[in-house]
Amino acid sequence: MNTPIGVFDSGIGGLSVLRALQKALPHERFVYLADNAHAPYGEKSEAFVRERTETIAAHLLAQHHIKALVVACNTATAAAIHELRAQHPQLPLVGVEPALKPALALSRTGHIGVIATRGTVASDKFARLLASVQGEAHFVVQACNGLALAIEQSTLPDQAMAAQAQISHLLRSYTEAMGRFGTGPGDIDTMVLGCTHYVFVEDDLRQLLGPGVQLLSTGEAVARQTQRLLAAAGLLNTQDANSSARSMRLMTTGDLQGLQAAAMRWLGLPPELCEAAPAKLQT
Ligand code: DGL
Repeated sequence: MNTPIGVFDSGIGGLSVLRALQKALPHERFVYLADNAHAPYGEKSEAFVRERTETIAAHLLAQHHIKALVVACNTATAAAIHELRAQHPQLPLVGVEPALKPALALSRTGHIGVIATRGTVASDKFARLLASVQGEAHFVVQACNGLALAIEQSTLPDQAMAAQAQISHLLRSYTEAMGRFGTGPGDIDTMVLGCTHYVFVEDDLRQLLGPGVQLLSTGEAVARQTQRLLAAAGLLNTQDANSSARSMRLMTTGDLQGLQAAAMRWLGLPPELCEAAPAKLQT
C-alpha cells in the first residue's frame, strides 16, 4: 500500500527515528511533522501534549491518509498513546519509550542511567515501566530540562554556537548529578537516551562519559516494530516508493529553516522536501 507512514515529534528529535525507519523500510513513503511551535513538550502539561498529539494524528490521517503512525517522541507517547489507540483502533500505531529492558541485558555493573524529559520522567507510564524492572538493576533517572530545546536551537545558524555551549553545560551538570560512569563496580555503565532529541548529542555524551559506557536509543527497535505491524496488516509497500510519488515530506509548525538545516545535517535531505505545516496547526 503506497500511502505514507506518519511520523511526528515535538520537533527535530524524531528525525533520529525517521532515519532508522527510512533505512529499515526503503520502499515506504514518509510524512514527518515537527511541532516546533509547541516544543518543548517535556516541559508542558500532560493534557497539553495529549491535545497536540491527538490534533496532529487527526491531521495526518485526514490530510495525508497515513497507513500507520509512529509517535517518535517519548513524552507524547507517555502522555497520549493510550488515548490514541482507543481513538484509532484500526491504525497501526508505534510509540517510543526509554529502553530500560534492553539496558538490563547490556549492563554488566547493574547500574543504569536514564535521561529523559521532565514530562516523560513524571508520567505514570514511565513509573510503571520503571517499577517493572526495579530490583533487577539500580536505575538512576535524570530529567534534563532545557536539553531538547538547546538541541533544537543548535540547528539554527544564528544560535548554533550559544546552543552548543548550553548543550555541553547541561550534559556536564546532569551527568555529574547522576554519579560515576565507567565499567568498575558501582559505576553506571549503560545510559538510556529516553528522548529522541538526545540521539543527536550522542558524540558529546560519549566524550563526556568515556568509551566504556554504552548508549542506548530506540530508533532501530521502533523501525523493526513498525515493519512487523505493517507486514502483519498486509500494508507494506511492494513498489519502489520513489517511482510513484515523493517518498519523503517534512513539515513544521515552527521555523522552517531549522527543520531544513536539521534534515540536511542528520539525514542528508534537501531543503525542498521541507515545508510549513498548515496555519491551523501552528496556533
Ligand atoms: N523528543 C521528545 C521526546 O522524545 C521531546 C522533547 C521535548 O519536546 O521536550 O521526549
